[in-house]
Amino acid sequence: MSDDDRLKREAAQRAVELVRSGMILGLGHGTTAHQALVRIAELLRAGTLRDIAGVPCSTQVEAEARKLGIPVTTLDEHPTLDLTIDGADEVDPNLNLIKGGGGALLREKVVAQASEREAIVVDEGKLSSALGTRSPLPVEVIPFGWKTHIPYLESRGAAVALRRAPAGEPFRTDQGNFILDCRFGPIRDPHGLARGLEARAGIVAHGLFLGLATDLFVAGPNGVRHLRRAT
Ligand code: A5P
Repeated sequence: MSDDDRLKREAAQRAVELVRSGMILGLGHGTTAHQALVRIAELLRAGTLRDIAGVPCSTQVEAEARKLGIPVTTLDEHPTLDLTIDGADEVDPNLNLIKGGGGALLREKVVAQASEREAIVVDEGKLSSALGTRSPLPVEVIPFGWKTHIPYLESRGAAVALRRAPAGEPFRTDQGNFILDCRFGPIRDPHGLARGLEARAGIVAHGLFLGLATDLFVAGPNGVRHLRRAT
């Protein structure tokens, strides 16, 4: 196992300590959140946890959860979730995030907004002083008129690239939409940018997760730090 994988596992395992029997969970997407699934499955098998069910943030996570034996449920059955454990691409000092590197941003945000507690698991390479410094901002757009968003995004300072699948065709989200990866560099006003994106018809989600994370588990060479959002 690489050092990176070890850090991901350590952060995820600490976050899973928040899980209690009977909880309804949000199951995040990505390699770090996957480590939380593995740990939850272990604890279910051992009988340490019971009566858990999870709402997956993507079709991929749904398949992973089923394979691991974690009961899967939906937001229709459980519109409020006790706890979600998810990864992030970048985290600022106020626990604001960029997410969506894996393409699951829309479902991840719906699940985060439905969660009483949103625990984010990262290695310390994801920390930054200003969002946009290390990661492009994913913007999910419906295919109809997708190119019309490019001049707008450029006017806000982004270099824009349509995300592509490995074979070269446009990447499609679970909703069948496209993703525009927008390199802004440090974003001075994430709230203002979020408002601008949310005002445009055809943009269905963006990867700015502002004020949603309640807990952050950051793994580094000296162990895992648990930070909570100041309220
Ligand atoms: C999925 O759409 C993303 O938001 C992931 O949570 C994020 O990209 C982190 O993924 P890793 O844990 O694989 O870095």
